[in-house]
Amino acid sequence: MTNENDRVLEPFDLVIFGGTGDLTMRKLLPAMYFRHREAQLPEQGRVICIARTDLTTEGFVERISDKVPGFIDEREFDQESWRSFCSRIEYVSLDINDQSRYGALADLLNADPDRVRVFYLSTAPSLFVRICEGVAAAGLITRQSRVALEKPLGRDAASAIDINDRLAEYFTEQQIYRIDHYLGKETVQNLMALRFGNSLFEPLWRRELISDVQITIAEDLGVEGRAGFYDQTGALRDMVQNHILQLLVILAMEPPVSIDSDAIRDEKIKVLRSLKPITGNDVDRNTVRGQYKSGVTDGERVPGYLESDDVPDDSHTETFVAIKAEIDSWRWKGVPFFLRTGKRLQEKRTEIVINFKTVPHSIFDMPGQPNRLMIRLQPEESIKLAIFAKGRGDDMRLQAVNLDLDFNKIFKKRQMIAYERLLLDMIRGNQTLFNHRDEVTAAWAWIDPIIAGWEKNESTPQQYPAGSWGPAASSALIARAGYSWFEEDN
Ligand code: BG6
Repeated sequence: MTNENDRVLEPFDLVIFGGTGDLTMRKLLPAMYFRHREAQLPEQGRVICIARTDLTTEGFVERISDKVPGFIDEREFDQESWRSFCSRIEYVSLDINDQSRYGALADLLNADPDRVRVFYLSTAPSLFVRICEGVAAAGLITRQSRVALEKPLGRDAASAIDINDRLAEYFTEQQIYRIDHYLGKETVQNLMALRFGNSLFEPLWRRELISDVQITIAEDLGVEGRAGFYDQTGALRDMVQNHILQLLVILAMEPPVSIDSDAIRDEKIKVLRSLKPITGNDVDRNTVRGQYKSGVTDGERVPGYLESDDVPDDSHTETFVAIKAEIDSWRWKGVPFFLRTGKRLQEKRTEIVINFKTVPHSIFDMPGQPNRLMIRLQPEESIKLAIFAKGRGDDMRLQAVNLDLDFNKIFKKRQMIAYERLLLDMIRGNQTLFNHRDEVTAAWAWIDPIIAGWEKNESTPQQYPAGSWGPAASSALIARAGYSWFEEDN
């Protein structure tokens, strides 16, 4: 995590497999457009999109010019910059299973073999190995090459290990960039700044003073056009194995010795390995899975998950998960980490709430509430600290008031989208914000017994109405431990 942002990059070829896909349109091309507009891309920097569809580069540029601007805030879109950005785009139609088709890509890349080359695999994980074989057989992997992989990597620890082993036949660990886009969010990087750039919090960050931690990634949207993928995946694999666990490890890790990628990854891996396994009867006790039924969001009635196209009527795929997690370490022993994520919840909100212990002996007539640190990551970025103060009046009644930091008001600069940062780091060769293979395996190792428990007890997901905060069982899970979800709308 360096301050290299303003530096122009080395010449590069960014090769996107899945070039006509949703992620390319919504995130990757807008991200590169912003970097282009901000004059950070060198003249010799190309974005080569690969897909099966038979199109010329001109046809592809026409297609993206119709679609991509819709995913860029209109205030940030400038036709002139877009046009000049499009001159960086090349399109190659390629069936990855047909080795004879790699020639056109080879011709493009070999015109300047010394450039940084990033193969970005924005495809189903089942195609990762095939693509690596293809580019290797076409002689396209140079010393300056990198490969970037979207999450989730595999379906469980065994398949992740297998994919990683196979990739290692073609790329070294230093060339492999495993993406979790949450790590590219400025708000998530700010968590590290908060913890390790301030001396204030470190003495508080421990079991003696913290009562519980809550991490929520709530989405108001449903599965949208991705039901086919989602039904094979579910919320545990889609959100918990990666995004939620990444937030948890950044919150819980020991201070790294430096900002160097190995130093940070080492600390993160230790937390993942100290997560207490949830097995046997604890799966039922400490986890809840839910599935949304129809309900009302934003004043509109929306259909339930089972009514989505491509979802079988009897699907048991979870669209909501709540978990009580524990970390077996000196710092955290006994502090519950309550995690939850779901689709079609009341609102989009990513938030971390740290509840401190209440005073040991209260001399005031005060609500039994704790001091609370609330770190809001989405939709807006803010940090609030609830403290108690005497209200105005002739009594000594205390009330909670917030110290309130709103980052949108403090920082006027546009907040970068996660992929801007990640794409730049891949081109620069900085792996800090990417996962090491051991992290991915350790995360799966904690997730696998939960999935096994769900499969074994054959329970079905609890239904919850769209527009709610999830199934009642989620409130019951946290209440059993003596806590409640923080849902205050502030
Ligand atoms: C993706 C998941 O990784 O993250 C999606 O596959 C989810 O299901 C998305 O909607 C949420 O990302 P963000 O940045 O909107 O919080």
